[in-house]
Amino acid sequence: MQLKVDGHLAIEGGDPVRTRPWPTYDKGAVFVSEEDQNAGLRALRSRLYFRYDCRPTAQTETGRLEAKLQSYFGVRHALACHSGTTAIALALMARVEPGSVVATQAFSFAATPSAILLAGCRPLLVEVDDDLHLDVEDLRARYSPEVKAVVPVHMRGFAAPMRAVMRFADEVGIPVIEDVVPALGVSLNARRLGTFGVAGAFSTQSDKSINTGEGGFLLTDDTELFARAVVYSGAYEGRCARHFEAPSQVPICDLDYPIFAFRMDEIRAAVAASALDRLPLRLKLQRSVYGRVSRGVADLAPITLRRPVAPGACLGESLLFRVRDGRDGAAAWFARALRREGIDARNLGDPAESNIRCFWNWRFLFPGRSVSEIKALLPRTTGLLEETVDIPLAPTLTEADCEDAVLAIRKVAAQLDMTASRSRRFKALAPARLQAAGSSRLTWPVVPRTQSLPPPAS
Ligand SMILES: Cc1ncc(COP(=O)(O)O)c(C=O)c1O
Repeated sequence: MQLKVDGHLAIEGGDPVRTRPWPTYDKGAVFVSEEDQNAGLRALRSRLYFRYDCRPTAQTETGRLEAKLQSYFGVRHALACHSGTTAIALALMARVEPGSVVATQAFSFAATPSAILLAGCRPLLVEVDDDLHLDVEDLRARYSPEVKAVVPVHMRGFAAPMRAVMRFADEVGIPVIEDVVPALGVSLNARRLGTFGVAGAFSTQSDKSINTGEGGFLLTDDTELFARAVVYSGAYEGRCARHFEAPSQVPICDLDYPIFAFRMDEIRAAVAASALDRLPLRLKLQRSVYGRVSRGVADLAPITLRRPVAPGACLGESLLFRVRDGRDGAAAWFARALRREGIDARNLGDPAESNIRCFWNWRFLFPGRSVSEIKALLPRTTGLLEETVDIPLAPTLTEADCEDAVLAIRKVAAQLDMTASRSRRFKALAPARLQAAGSSRLTWPVVPRTQSLPPPAS
């Protein structure tokens, strides 16, 4: 194999580590099987697309999916719905008075505060800790009796510190609704995420562990919350009773609640139920991809990998690390250099981008405030996001893809770390496996950097 790598960073005119596009879900790098496709076709051919049709629930695709979810997660109730956003909103609508303050973390996808707004509540943002997990001490500091629920987010596949979150929530008597959208299938201390709080909200959008294009589901053991969520999701004229063994078990009157058409349809449900059968395999692949890449860069001094709250408590869909360089714009430069090497990478807090995972880009929450005023509200999270690089890792990455990611990160890190002898450093940085294979990448000459860190683009 001809490897086109020299010591020049691609950003400085050298050869990139790879020229093929980095595989991501939006370029078709998805874990989809023929069984999933056949399941979707079966639902299409049935001509019955609406979940509440003439068939008994157990014979519908949606009913079967919900039964499978109950058993997979060991929960009393499961409701398939429209999306992760609506799953979070349904749980809040069913449990919290409109107008309440709901706490969540400042590092999430904009959909989390959006779901809080959709439920008619007001988000309160809380700092994250050095590993980008919800900081429970900051939650305590910002808490007031107006706060009626907390939504921890298992962000980018990493479990939130659920023991500490639950302890605090129990202490002040508020429910916890988990945003498990990015971490479907992950466990923390042998317990599945989404089963710690009063409800767990999941997505089946295309880059999630179950892919139905769009979609989501809600899990809970709270029967009243469940019944309300079912009605809110669009179960009208007694259809809520189909989720119970007998109408007498429905603990609410459906006419007391509005309906929002957040239902899942039969086609998506058929695909989701099929994908759930192979979720363990998908999780295994994802773990192995993450293990390969993270082990390959774990020793690099200029970067610090995000740590999970407990061993294995992360999905592995994303490699996140902080660039510990001290110079402003170092992480933005690092991500840009990686992109030029052929690896999709983003500096979360890059001022040249409007990354929707940065709270200062949730301008809908802060009308009339400037970016610097918004950043100053959560300075710790701001600093961390500005230092963090995020690389998406599809479960379908090959060994060669993983190797490219490792080489590119090592190449850019080596260039950043200028203090020691460059050639000695590269030899030390080159993976032993490649050295043993006599890869031509080992001939990567070390050249002086021709370009200093550019200032962040405005
Ligand atoms: C943390 C988080 N919460 C909620 C959502 C929303 O999920 P959906 O797109 O299914 O509404 C996302 C989407 O990626 C997310 O990352």
